[in-house]
Amino acid sequence: MRPRLLFWIPAALRLLIVLAGSAVIGLFAGPVVALSVALLALVVAVLVQLNYLYLLAGWLDNPAQVRLPDGWGAWTDIFSRLYRLRRDDERNRTELSEWLARFRQAMSLLPDGVVIMDDVLFLEWCNPAAERHLGLKDERDKGMRVTNLIRNPAFMDYIILGRYDQPLTLSLRERKLIVQIIPFENRRQILVTHDATETERIEMMRRDFIANASHELRTPLTVINGFLEIAASQPELDRATRGAHLQLMAEQGQRMQNLVEDMLTLTRLESLDYPLRVEQVDMALLLDRILREARALSAGRHTVTLVNEAPDMRGNADELHSAFGNLASNAVRYTPAGGSIVLAWRLGNGGPQFSVQDTGIGIRAEHLSRLTERFYRVDKSRSRETQGTGLGLAIVKHVLLRHDASLGIDSQPEQGSTFTVTFPMVATVLPA
Ligand SMILES: Nc1ncnc2c1ncn2[C@@H]1O[C@H](COP(=O)(O)OP(=O)(O)OP(=O)(O)O)[C@@H](O)[C@H]1O
Ligand SMILES: [Mg+2]
Repeated sequence: MRPRLLFWIPAALRLLIVLAGSAVIGLFAGPVVALSVALLALVVAVLVQLNYLYLLAGWLDNPAQVRLPDGWGAWTDIFSRLYRLRRDDERNRTELSEWLARFRQAMSLLPDGVVIMDDVLFLEWCNPAAERHLGLKDERDKGMRVTNLIRNPAFMDYIILGRYDQPLTLSLRERKLIVQIIPFENRRQILVTHDATETERIEMMRRDFIANASHELRTPLTVINGFLEIAASQPELDRATRGAHLQLMAEQGQRMQNLVEDMLTLTRLESLDYPLRVEQVDMALLLDRILREARALSAGRHTVTLVNEAPDMRGNADELHSAFGNLASNAVRYTPAGGSIVLAWRLGNGGPQFSVQDTGIGIRAEHLSRLTERFYRVDKSRSRETQGTGLGLAIVKHVLLRHDASLGIDSQPEQGSTFTVTFPMVATVLPA
């Protein structure tokens, strides 16, 4: 900044020049003329100052439209300083509005909701995630009280108790939300919302899975422990009874082993670190294996036939064996003796299809959507008789997911069922 003295020196010099000029005129033309000249010079100077003041007042009224003159004398400096101030102000304003736009864009991309309210909970602003979570509309609801917009008893209690250091879990609009109020500045508060629906669902699935798995393991364990107690308390039991008990214990042991193996398979299929190993699958070989296994399981009680009309496909042979084998074993286990089962590999319009058709007990429509859930069985006692764990179709579902395939189920109670797996057309390996 220039020293103020420097700023006044040119003005003082001009005044001195006028006074000196008037003195010189006084020497030649007498004091009256000299005074008149000095007076005239002063009047001109005052008029010039008034004009600049007038221009300055006009500019201050409307700085964006009116231009400041270059000015004269000290005014040049004043005007250029004012110009600079205005330019800086404009730049600051542009920077500020750019920063605000960036901030709003960042906020609108946040997956979590942010609501800014004043100290008495009147809505000032909210981002799109908060609009989705809480059913608000920034434009419409601005200036309204948040407690009138979010009508939820738990939320009301949270506000009344004012324990904002703890988050609140809220069930709102069929979602699980974690909300928390954070006071900031003196007279403002932020309401943050986080959608925990998916986490909650996974947590529930995990709890269900553990509960179901423990339950499934407990039954065979109870049976084995029961027989062990009998064996310990009645050592004199005859060989035949003891043999029968051992046989039942072995069956239950096998059942536990199947269960643990299925659970491990499921965990492996779900794991992200276990990518699909794609190879060309010799379908004739795979289908023949499935047919032989189904016939072995049926032990001559059913007619099991195979139709193979489609070319080979790309996928993982072991996983496909496990999925197709599950479908075929279900058909055998849920079809009474004398029934027939057709395994087919055909090329449909959407892509290659593997289907298993049986003339078995069928499934009522209300069960169909739940069949692929872990441990879901239509008739628990019957499935237990057939050594079922209820994990078979869950494994099928995961294998199909990994192969981009879909499962269709068509079933009529007492008539039979058809399970159809459709692979994408790209999975087909065209014969050379
Ligand atoms: N072909 C079918 N006919 C009738 N019901 C079936 C058939 N396939 C499956 N189901 C029903 O769907 C349920 C779930 O099948 P899933 O294969 O998942 O389990 P499971 O066969 O009981 O046991 P696992 O396959 O693990 O040994 C079965 O318990 C059964 O009630
Ligand atoms: Mg099964």
